[in-house]
Amino acid sequence: PLSARVNSKNHLEIGGCDVTTLVAQYGTPLYIVDEMTLRTACRQYRDSFKSYYSGESQVIYASKAWSCLAVCGVIASEGLGFDVVSSGELYTTLTALEQMGIAEQSLNKIYFHGNNKSESELKYALSIGCKIIVDNWLELETLVKLGSDLGVSSIPILLRLTPGIECHTHEYIRTGHLDSKFGFDPNQMDAVLTYVSQQPILNCLGLHAHIGSQIFERQPHQDLGGVLIEWMQKAIHKYNLSITEINVGGGLGIRYTESDDPPSIEEWVKTVSLSVMNACQINNLPLPKLIAEPGRSLIATACVTAYTVGSRKEIPNIRTYIAVDGGMSDNPRPITYQSVYRTVIANKMSTFCQETVTIAGKHCESGDILIKDAQIPLARPGDILVVMATGAYNYSMASNYNRLPRPAAVIVSEGEANLILHRETNEDLLRQDRLPERLKQEFR
Ligand code: LLP
Repeated sequence: PLSARVNSKNHLEIGGCDVTTLVAQYGTPLYIVDEMTLRTACRQYRDSFKSYYSGESQVIYASKAWSCLAVCGVIASEGLGFDVVSSGELYTTLTALEQMGIAEQSLNKIYFHGNNKSESELKYALSIGCKIIVDNWLELETLVKLGSDLGVSSIPILLRLTPGIECHTHEYIRTGHLDSKFGFDPNQMDAVLTYVSQQPILNCLGLHAHIGSQIFERQPHQDLGGVLIEWMQKAIHKYNLSITEINVGGGLGIRYTESDDPPSIEEWVKTVSLSVMNACQINNLPLPKLIAEPGRSLIATACVTAYTVGSRKEIPNIRTYIAVDGGMSDNPRPITYQSVYRTVIANKMSTFCQETVTIAGKHCESGDILIKDAQIPLARPGDILVVMATGAYNYSMASNYNRLPRPAAVIVSEGEANLILHRETNEDLLRQDRLPERLKQEFR
């Protein structure tokens, strides 16, 4: 986080709060969100679009990265909109906006995504009046039907297409190549645009494409601008649709370790803006409202996870394992994508790194390793180990595997910490459980 420093006790301090004090108060594992880092990333996106893009722009937060009231609240307060992909994300975002008293004016900044939205999700979206990013034929036809059933006069939609752009990232998080489950196949786009132009209830505002996540190259996003503007040209001139919005998705990578070298937010925005402006000039089109929907690059570096160090296993000449009190349930990324993280010991910030150890979680699974070969000071039980850059796709992908309660989260700013997610309790774990009556009676 931007506000991280080492204080006079040689402890890690974030947002003016000593991490060891936070841990004493809130326990571990603990997600610690630095409000300033999050706000700064929002501003970098916003300001960069203002500097490089001559038309209107809107940054929307891909809330799948971390959807909760407080994170949505900070992002809304920075003027960003939201990408939601389920009724749960929509409900979370709306509740945050309602509690802040800005729901009404924010509705046109909410975009509903998803490759298999249910009828009830679509009805929810229609009742709210947010924009819907349509992914496939079934959804188009369902919307037309539901819209007329509900007496909606006009449904604001964008069409998502597969741009056919390859990029080098983990295969699980690539979405732009043709063999992807997301969006309309480009070969179908002519049929789709014909259909849409014949349905008066569909108000097709724009086009969307997303090529993948944790991307370091610039070329794919540069190409994407051109692809989308070509479709915009066709949609306007051949199908008479009044396309005014182009959404280039998210995907900018972040620096998890020293060897990661992503472009800055400013460089990314510049690339996207110039490619869209350039393509518009070539095609003699007015500049569309340009939308970007970053998730990871807004929230990832704004959060760290603090754990308490527990047991140690030394296997001579092979490896030393240090176990912490969380693991794949609060951070499933290493086991899912072989992601690499950096770590420090919050209460030993000025001690030299004395050993190379593997940081293991506490789950009953050998693959539950958070970091392989981390270099840290000699770690003792009770030390506070902090894993950096855990804001994106950690809490949002957290589980209760092994019936571990999900961690608490705090947001820190200028020396003040606020609890934003209560730590789950054992009672929470049983909240949805029911034992059938006949089993209760069996031994009575
Ligand atoms: N827009 C769409 C349509 C997306 O599918 C995604 C991410 C984003 C925007 C935001 O992408 P970002 O800026 O965060 O890269 N769980 C994986 C990442 C999955 C990304 C899914 N879609 C991970 O932990 O790496």
